[in-house]
Amino acid sequence: MKKILLTWANGMLGTDFIKHFGKTFEILALDRNNGDITNRTSMEELIKKTTPDIIVNFAAYTNVEAAEDTWRKMNFDVNSLWVHNLAKLSAKHAIDLITISTDYVFDGSKKEWYTENDVCNPINSYGMAKYLWEQLAQQENPDSIIIRTSRLYGWGKEYKNFVNTIINLWTNRDEVKVVKDQMGAPTYTIDLCEAITKTINNTEDYKWKILHFCNETKDDGISWFEFAEEICKVAGVQTKLTPCSSQEFVTKAPRPQCSKLINWSNIHLRDWKEWLHEYLATL
Ligand SMILES: NC(=O)c1ccc[n+]([C@@H]2O[C@H](COP(=O)([O-])OP(=O)(O)OC[C@H]3O[C@@H](n4cnc5c(N)ncnc54)[C@H](OP(=O)(O)O)[C@@H]3O)[C@@H](O)[C@H]2O)c1
Repeated sequence: MKKILLTWANGMLGTDFIKHFGKTFEILALDRNNGDITNRTSMEELIKKTTPDIIVNFAAYTNVEAAEDTWRKMNFDVNSLWVHNLAKLSAKHAIDLITISTDYVFDGSKKEWYTENDVCNPINSYGMAKYLWEQLAQQENPDSIIIRTSRLYGWGKEYKNFVNTIINLWTNRDEVKVVKDQMGAPTYTIDLCEAITKTINNTEDYKWKILHFCNETKDDGISWFEFAEEICKVAGVQTKLTPCSSQEFVTKAPRPQCSKLINWSNIHLRDWKEWLHEYLATL
């Protein structure tokens, strides 16, 4: 059984990983109470003490809007410097490393699916920090495995994700405006965790590689509006959904118009609708 140092375990992805795959591995799950995420010395002591086979990093600053201004420094501290430290330490102690990145490393100008070899050109601060993280991880530990994913949802109704946001808006509003011109693919955390588990069990096949893991969609991907429509349909709620453009839905952080990730690996995730229906049934 592989021994995993899981940093940080109580976010959306970490919680589902422990809940559904916790018995598959020996997991040392870290959270804010176990130490300072950016302190390399204390992390090195922990690594020496626990001697993990692999470090799986789920820690991230994920508020894309606040990363543009108020929490810009935090965004770079956690999303770039932190992984730099982890990559250095994992290389020094010969430990495998998996980190999670995002479709926001791309600018979204490509209309086809993005491959792992496509040129990155982030257009917001969160995407830039993640892009730096990818570069630093590969530079410091060329064996690092980078998993890019997109539009994550899971864990339960208390958590902030797109599905829960749409459901909560129903209770407060008669009409909800949703962006129709940004195409991508949603990803259910449990399906992603299963794909990560397969990666952990076969690290030799994926070292020094970038993997794109998101749920299967039709060729065009799906827009946030289509995603919301399906949520409404399955949950049986009669709120009026109105499609709008990115220009109408003003945000501080620009989002890529098209960020569909193509998966070259032999690890496949299921169709997005299957998982969405399953998730909504759990709420
Ligand atoms: N959510 C998405 O749509 C999406 C899309 C693409 C990629 N991703 C990537 O997928 C991964 C998992 O995302 P997620 O949605 O599960 O993220 P999340 O729920 O926001 O969890 C992030 C974790 O990082 C921890 N963390 C953040 N800043 C920290 C700090 N300064 N010190 C200590 N811990 C800190 C959080 O701790 P607390 O719980 O204590 O705050 C939390 O456990 C991330 O790498 C994310 O960038 C997410």
